[in-house]
Formats: sequence, C-alpha cells, structure tokens
Amino acid sequence: MKNKLLLSLAGMLLFPSLAVLGQSKVITRDIAEQGFVHGMSDTYTVPDDPRVLAALDEWQDRKFGIFFHWGVYSVPGISESWPLCSEDKFIARRRKIQPDMNYDQFKNWYWQLAGQFNPAEFDAAYWAEIMKNAGMKYMVFTTKHHDGFCMFDSRLTDYTITRTTGIDPVKDLTDEFRKHDFMIGTYFSKADWHCPWYWHPDKATPSRGVNYDISQHPDWWNKFCKYTAGQIDELMSNYGRIDILWLDGGWVKAPAEDFGIDTIVENARAKQPGLIVVDRTVKGRNENYLTPEMRIPAEQLPYPWETNTTLTNRWGWTPNPKYKSAFDVINMLAEITAKGGNFLLDVGPDGNGRIEQAAVERLEFIGKWLEKNGEAIYNTRPAKVYNCGPVWFNASKDGKTIYGIYTLDDDGKLPSKVEWSGNVPAGAVTLLADGRELKHSVENGKTVVQLPSDMPDMPFAFKFKIRK
Ligand code: GLC
Repeated sequence: MKNKLLLSLAGMLLFPSLAVLGQSKVITRDIAEQGFVHGMSDTYTVPDDPRVLAALDEWQDRKFGIFFHWGVYSVPGISESWPLCSEDKFIARRRKIQPDMNYDQFKNWYWQLAGQFNPAEFDAAYWAEIMKNAGMKYMVFTTKHHDGFCMFDSRLTDYTITRTTGIDPVKDLTDEFRKHDFMIGTYFSKADWHCPWYWHPDKATPSRGVNYDISQHPDWWNKFCKYTAGQIDELMSNYGRIDILWLDGGWVKAPAEDFGIDTIVENARAKQPGLIVVDRTVKGRNENYLTPEMRIPAEQLPYPWETNTTLTNRWGWTPNPKYKSAFDVINMLAEITAKGGNFLLDVGPDGNGRIEQAAVERLEFIGKWLEKNGEAIYNTRPAKVYNCGPVWFNASKDGKTIYGIYTLDDDGKLPSKVEWSGNVPAGAVTLLADGRELKHSVENGKTVVQLPSDMPDMPFAFKFKIRK
C-alpha cells in the first residue's frame, strides 16, 4: 500500500494549494455522439522499476502523440469492431451499416472485409513525416483491435494483414517513426472477437466478454491465454525497441478473466526493459499511466495520465467526418499539459492508407504553431497555479520559468489586455512567437499584460521568470 495513492481524494490533499481557477472542460460533444467505453481509474500505483520511472519521465517530456486506428473497419469506413458486438447499444449501429442483415450475416460480412483490405497507398514514411511536422513525439498504433484482425505478422492466426497483402504495417510504421525519434507504442486489444478461444463458435456471442463459463471450459481459456501471451511476445520480440504496451479492453481482467498479465508483463520487460505498460482501467501495477478517453479530467492530477481523443468524431476513418479545428487541438493541448497530462490525438487513415487532406492541413497548422510556441509545452511540468480564465500555465522543470498559453476559439478575437492572478512575473514577459517583450504591470498579485494590436487572432504563448 505504501506507494499507492488513493487519488480522487488524495489528489486534493497532495495539492491543497491548487485553486481551480478556470472552468473545467469536459468534451461532452464527443461523449454524447459516440459513447465511450472506458472511464478512468481512480487510483494510481507508482511503479517501482527505476527504468519504468525514467521512461515515464521521458514520455512526460514529449506531451503530444499520434494514435492511429487502422484496420479492416477502415475499408467500408465504419466504427472499429463494435458493430460486431450484439449488446443492445450497438445493434442500431450495425443496422445502419447493413439494414437487411441479421447478426450472423453481418458477422460474416465483417469477417470477409479482410479480403478487401489492400491499402495500395499506404506510405509509412509519409505518415511519419506528417506527424513529425505536426510536432508529435510518440505514436501508438492499433496492432490488433477487438475484431482480432492483426496488423502485424502474427504466426498464431491466419487473420492478419500480412497473409492477405504481404504488408506489415507494424514493421513499416515502427521503422519509420523511430527514424524521427518517436517513442513507439503498440495498442493491443485483450478482447479478441475473432479468436475461437474468446468467442467460442459453439456458443452465442451476446456480449463483449468471453462467451463461455471459464470454470466449465478451462482448456478453451488456457488456449486463449497462450494465444494472447504469444501475440504480445511477437510484438515485443520482432519489431525492435517498443516503449509502450497500450492494452485495451479493460473488462478482460482478473479475477473473472485472469489471463496472467503479470507474467506477460514480466516477459515483455525482459525483452523491452523499462517498457511502459498501460493495462487501462484495471488499476494497479500494470497501469503505468491513466487513459481518460474522449475527455479531459476536471483538475490537475499528480500522476502520469494521457487524454486520448479523436481529430474527427470517430476513432477510425468514416466518410465525411466532422473535424475538430487546429485551434481546438491547440487549446486542448494547453489545458491537458497544464493539468499534468499528455495528449494522444487520434487520426484514422482510410482503407487505401490515405490520411485525408483535411487532417493533414490541421496537423500542419498545429506543427507550425508548435514550432514557435512549443517551448511552452514540451519538457514542462505542472505549475502550481495552472489556470486563469483562457490562460493555461506550465512551468519549466526547475520551476523558475512560467509559460502562459492563451487559448482562443476559432471565431474568437484577442483582447487588448490579458490578466491573471498568481504567477507574478519577476522580469520581462515575452511572446514566444517573435521574442517581443509585452508591457505588463502588477497590482495586488494581479498581472495585466498589454497585447500589441498587430497580433493575429489565434492562441499564443508567452513566458516569464518567477521568484522561487
Ligand atoms: C475504447 C474502444 C475502442 C477504442 C479505444 C480508444 O476502449 O473500445 O474502440 O479503440 O477506446 O481509447
């Protein structure tokens, strides 16, 4: 229990001086539209392996990562895997895709998508180039989603992209992103709806869970455990340095669905020392950071965490998606980092391997913004006073420099002055974009900064020293 922080309560006790000055932002739009599967754990266990701690520290320097959802579902442009699930809330989704098919027909239709997946335009070097230019520093790729289709060369099943096309996206992407010094993460779903030892063909498949009683069929379950352990071992053995093992499907866990995660992690770390493991929402020693899905926590949190959310309104590619704007992403990056988190932004390439132009344009804009303002984001740590209205604050690691990021919506106009309480400048306040000094005054702990009238209406960052 020593290193276990009970967080929802203890977070506040640990940071008693953290006044929450701004309005917390919950991305309700996305939650309402798509629903989300995973909330967030309310406890965090600090890892005791110093190499894992060092890796987490480096990961926290990087702040901004790319999440790819890419698989057979990208061919017709439908939700990833979930239409295969016959829980009530997914039936409507399935009917929208194939109104005339019953459940069995639909499953067969989904399984044959693998034969249509031939991404002729897939260019891993180009994907890496786009994300590097967007200012991203790590990537997480869906090696296997809940539908069980392997985007890597698994020898343990025929249901892989390598069998049908000869392309191994995990190989190509890990190679190309490593060239740009990205940290590399493998998303892997513990649930596998194609594997006969998870959804056994003798049984109906009424839910996302294992479809049989494990105590009645220990042999089936053992085969599933071996299959899962074997595939994770393939990922950890055959693709060079892996930094993050991002496990999805939090409902697959001990005691009911115990598949030997501790041993899997031990074996994985023997091959990948210091591997960050994210057994999301399971809590405990194998959840090295927390993963709030499609939302930003209400407050600063004193442990490693990462918001994962989408650039559009879907994880994978769908036709004519609704895009967030570049400002939306920059504003979220400011808020997330100020609250102590990382931002994993998801992009879904289409079935041909193309990333839509609308995504590329936004990513380019974000990258250009970060080129000028990134000092306020990368390598920072949480500031004690981290928010005042539209301004989010980060601190340099030594705590002597404070960075402010002024957030602005797409149709917003910059004011002529910006004010905040706390974080009193001990010297000049300078704009990161062009090094200009901004006139400022301080009265009763309140700082007022004058903005030059020629500044474009967009989010901007500035910095100043504080007395420690
Ligand atoms: C959810 C969903 C999944 C998605 C993931 C990303 O857990 O099951 O479809 O891949 O979130 O966070």
